[in-house]
Amino acid sequence: MRPAYLEVNLQAIFDNVRHIKAVLGQQVGIIAVVKSNAYGHGAVEVSKVVLQAGADMLAVALLEEALQLREAGISAPILVLGPVPRDAVEVAAQNAIIVTLNSAAEAEAFSKIGLQLGTKVTVHLKIDTGMCRHGVRVEEVEQLCRVLRGLDGLQLAGAFTHFASALTDPRFTLEQLARFKQAVRTAENVLGCRIPLVHAANSPALVRYPEAWLDAVRPGILIYGLPRNPRGSYMPTMTQALTLKAKVALVKHVQPGDRIGYDGTFVVRRPTTIALLPLGYADGYPRALSNRGEVLLRGRRVPVVGRVAMDWTTVDVTDLGDVQVGEEAILMGRQGEEFISVAEVAERSGTIVQEVVSRLSPRLPRVYIPHL
Ligand SMILES: Cc1ncc(COP(=O)(O)O)c(C=O)c1O
Repeated sequence: MRPAYLEVNLQAIFDNVRHIKAVLGQQVGIIAVVKSNAYGHGAVEVSKVVLQAGADMLAVALLEEALQLREAGISAPILVLGPVPRDAVEVAAQNAIIVTLNSAAEAEAFSKIGLQLGTKVTVHLKIDTGMCRHGVRVEEVEQLCRVLRGLDGLQLAGAFTHFASALTDPRFTLEQLARFKQAVRTAENVLGCRIPLVHAANSPALVRYPEAWLDAVRPGILIYGLPRNPRGSYMPTMTQALTLKAKVALVKHVQPGDRIGYDGTFVVRRPTTIALLPLGYADGYPRALSNRGEVLLRGRRVPVVGRVAMDWTTVDVTDLGDVQVGEEAILMGRQGEEFISVAEVAERSGTIVQEVVSRLSPRLPRVYIPHL
């Protein structure tokens, strides 16, 4: 196997979901967000574990992601959060995949497809309460529901919205929640029935706003144990499931005046020992960590020196003694007493944890620690 890989602790994911479930209680469902290859962790493996831990439904961004789960034999309900092209709705319906409804025009088109197939296309209505992205605007909900009443090829199984700033703007988040609840009431009045599954909360809303739990929550990062910044955890008991490992490929001694890597951005000032790690930005290790990142070796932090290249990263191991080829370095995760969180990597590279994990390349093998 390649000497650079991602270790994914499925027990941690199982425990994280169990913990969320314990906090929510029996009445609130969990729609586990496993889009983008389960935030880089591996969609099929993660989906199986979150379902075993008690998640009720899976959510993905794309129809293709949903089909991958069906092909792997996963039969749980799956919701596609993003718009599904009309020519793909037939495939979605044939695979019992729930699609998101964003407009009255989509409703009419989807219903026609349902009737042609002799079935109903199952949809969740997306209501845009302030994100200004997907979904029908609040003021259009009433009219859309009037259209829905005349359509026989659709089944409205749920309604949802998405918060724009659940972590940073309480006033706007609660305003979005109020708009959503009002829009759902309007829809239910026009339809003359209750919408079975109403959901809104992403991870930060789940933790901060119990009033936003509604029928179900939609956590992503929380499941993977990823707090948003290195100092704070959403829930203290969550565990980071992912460890990025690489084995030292080469050890080299360089002299004062030497310059390391592309553009010679690191100038050597003392006799220095460099360890070469066999992964780079093509694997998802951010190039922004050039001369900024830290890596664990022998349980200690060592600095990234020079530019992170496409396939290689160099670290200064002078202070560790005679490091050997084959020794294990940790780029994200724990080694001994030291821990480099994904949140730290995100902060040092000027981005968010979601971007770091979702860009971990498919060419990095995933090694799974099973859950018991
Ligand atoms: C519609 C929707 N719901 C839920 C989530 C999960 O968000 P988080 O990872 O912050 O929990 C996402 C992720 O971006 C999303 O797009």
